[in-house]
Order: sequence, then structure tokens, then C-alpha cells
Amino acid sequence: MNYCVVGLQWGDEGKGKVVDILAAESDVVVRFNGGANAGHTVVIGDEKFALHLMPSGAVRDRTWCVIGNGVAVDPAVLIEEIDCLAEENISINGRLFISENAHIVLDYHKQEDRLREEVLGRAKLGTTIRGIGPCYADKVGRSYAVRMGDFRDLDALKPKLANIVEYKNKIFSALYDADPIKTEEIFAKCVEYAQRLGPFISNTTQLLHQSILDGKSILFEGAQGALLDLDHGTFPFVTSSNASSLGMSAGCGVPARLVDKFIGVVKAYTTRVGAGPFPSEQDNEIGQYIRDRGNEYGTTTGRPRRCGWFDGVAAGYSAATGGIDEVAMMHLDTLAGLEELKVCRAYRINGGETKLFPSNVAQLEKAECIYETTAGWDQDLSEVKIFDDLPRAVRDYIAMVEEISKVPVSIVGVGPKRSQTIFRK
Ligand code: IMP
Repeated sequence: MNYCVVGLQWGDEGKGKVVDILAAESDVVVRFNGGANAGHTVVIGDEKFALHLMPSGAVRDRTWCVIGNGVAVDPAVLIEEIDCLAEENISINGRLFISENAHIVLDYHKQEDRLREEVLGRAKLGTTIRGIGPCYADKVGRSYAVRMGDFRDLDALKPKLANIVEYKNKIFSALYDADPIKTEEIFAKCVEYAQRLGPFISNTTQLLHQSILDGKSILFEGAQGALLDLDHGTFPFVTSSNASSLGMSAGCGVPARLVDKFIGVVKAYTTRVGAGPFPSEQDNEIGQYIRDRGNEYGTTTGRPRRCGWFDGVAAGYSAATGGIDEVAMMHLDTLAGLEELKVCRAYRINGGETKLFPSNVAQLEKAECIYETTAGWDQDLSEVKIFDDLPRAVRDYIAMVEEISKVPVSIVGVGPKRSQTIFRK
């Protein structure tokens, strides 16, 4: 089986755990979008640490890990993760493959990200400052981009970097009054990156095609979530890659028809980090209750996440756009103790009611949620192993989400551990 797992909300849905479980049965795990803005916590022995770029399969010593062409690779972060895994006696030699066409995030991208956000002030997007937007902007602009394949020819890279630095310095000086960057310093880092990462660079599209011919099972792992998708999310409050399942094919070179199942991951409620509309947000004691119980603080930036009720309109839209077959609903245990639970079933916009997710942010900003309400539960769900053993109120809540979002929930998360995941028969 080939699976593709993506988030259906604004990221942080708990994809890591679903991917981790499926990775146990997969020969290859593929990242296809985003970069070090993503983050998932992995547990090795008794230790927890966050991976930002490395595919989740990295912790399993026979799984191949592919970083596809659609990923924005920050070499410094990737090297740190390789070293971190090595300290835990996990070697990725011979099983990490980085696309020669993946674009590289360098220091000046992070600097540009930070400077732009500072200048925007209150109008900022609330990015992770990982240089993601500026790196993808260079990719689309083409003339000043650096890709992993460039590390193979450092003689050609040096003049290329000099050209980029000249261009960036004009921008830094004119727009931000910032100190100039220096080619020598950037090049010196690139030499080190090339030495460390060179052995992993390859034609990953070919590798994946061959893997499919060889009958290997492949797991495609999305980063962020569909509502942060550059084209289909809440633009401009999105990330700079296609974070829905639609980004999979372009981001690794494998056609969607070769994927057997698209699994969309949601939380039992909704969260968002950074700016942008969030119709079901609960900026009150309910939101705080969810934040505290769900430990809703960013893995990458540590920022508190905005919390709110499950938005069935938004999730239904994401599922439909991404061709989602089944949904994994995580963090159900977090909702215990709330007297009643709400699910947004429609929006009221300019006095009219709609079940359609607006494609422009100005409309979404005006949307007021119309909720369906159901009883909450107090029971601890953490030991439940079988779907039908879940309390009635929990099953009713799931049924309500399914009905409103028009997607079947087949996996349920009732706690942080891998074992606290229920597969519905
Ligand atoms: P960027 O991807 O750093 O440019 O940030 C753009 C928006 O996407 C901001 O609102 C970020 O908070 C959000 N974002 C980026 N990556 C993640 C993620 O992995 N989880 C949740 N939100 C993210």
C-alpha cells in the first residue's frame, strides 16, 4: 500500500503519530513540501526530540528517507538532525536521499524573512522565520535560486553566490537598511554543507519510480496543513508551499494515482499559529482549557497556538480539495471535561448562510460560525483500545463531525503514545 498523510487544518494536527505508525509498514517515507518550519516530536528510547526536515521514517533503521524536490532544505538544520540521530546510534547512511532539485535555505533567506516581518509590523504574517517564503520566492523567480545539485559543483556555485549576494545586498540596503552579507562567509558554509550532504544528493524522482516498480510501499508525508496551502489555503496567511495532498505529486514526482489511500489528519478541535482568519477560534477560557490540556505550543517556535472548536466547513473543504479517503482524528482525549462541544456546520457571511468555504480571506474574516452542539464527556479515554468501547458521547461527537465534514473517521487518537491510537474496523 502507498499512503499519503496530510493535515486538513492549519498544521500541527498530529500527523507525526499517524505517519510514525504507518512508517512501520513502509519501505520508503517521503517528504514533499515545506522545510524546517515543520516540526514533529519523535521518541527514541526515553528521549524526545523534534525533527524538522528529516522524514519520520528516520528513526527506523531500515526505512529509506526521501526529501523530495518540493522541500526547502535548510542544510544546517538537516546536518544537526543527522548528528542528533547519530548520537542515538541511528545511522541514515545509505538510506537518506535528498533530491538534487530541492531548493536550499541559506542564512540570507532567514534574514530576509525576519526583516520583512519586522517591517510589516502589525500586518506581518507571523511566519516561523525559517526562511521558507524567501527561499520559495527565489525558486519561483529562478535567477537567484540555489538547489541541492549546486553543491556538486562548488566552482560554479561560487560566482553564482556572488551574483546572488550582490542582488540581496541591494534589497537589504534599500528596503531594510540592513548590514551587507558576504559571499565568502556564505560560500564557506556551503563548502561544509556540500561535504556533509553531498553523499545523500540524488535523483529522487527516479529512485521513487524504481521503488514503485520494485513493489516497495511508500508513505508520503505532508508538512503543515491544507488550510496553509499556498494556492488553496487562506492566502496570504499561508505557507509558501502546497501543503495539501495536491502538493504531493509536484513535490516528489510521483503521480497521485499511484497512491492507494489519502489520509487526512485533523485534531478533534482546531488550532492555528500565526496570523489569519480562524472563524471558530475561542479566545476565551474554552480556548485556554484546550491549550492547557492539549499542550498547544509550537514545536518549532514555542508560540502558544490559537485554539477553537472543530470547523466542519473548513475540514470538509480541505478533504474535498485533497481527495481525502479517510480521516484520522487526533487529540480526542484533550476535549474531556468540557460540558458541551460545538462543531461549526455553516458560516453566516453578510447575513446569508453558507456551507461553502470562501476562497478569499476577506469573506472568511467576516464569517461567523453556526454551530451544532453535543454533550461532552468526563471519562479518561487513554486506555480505550476498541472504537466501540469509546463512551457514547465521544462516538456521537465523531458522528457529528463525519456528517458535517462528509468524511469517514477511521483512526482516532486518545493520547500521545503510539499505542493510544484506535483503528476503526
Ligand atoms: P512560514 O511557513 O514560516 O512562512 O509561515 C507561514 C504561516 O504558516 C505562519 O502562520 C506559520 O505559523 C504557519 N506554519 C508554518 N509551518 C507550520 C507548521 O508546521 N505548523 C503550523 N503552522 C505552520
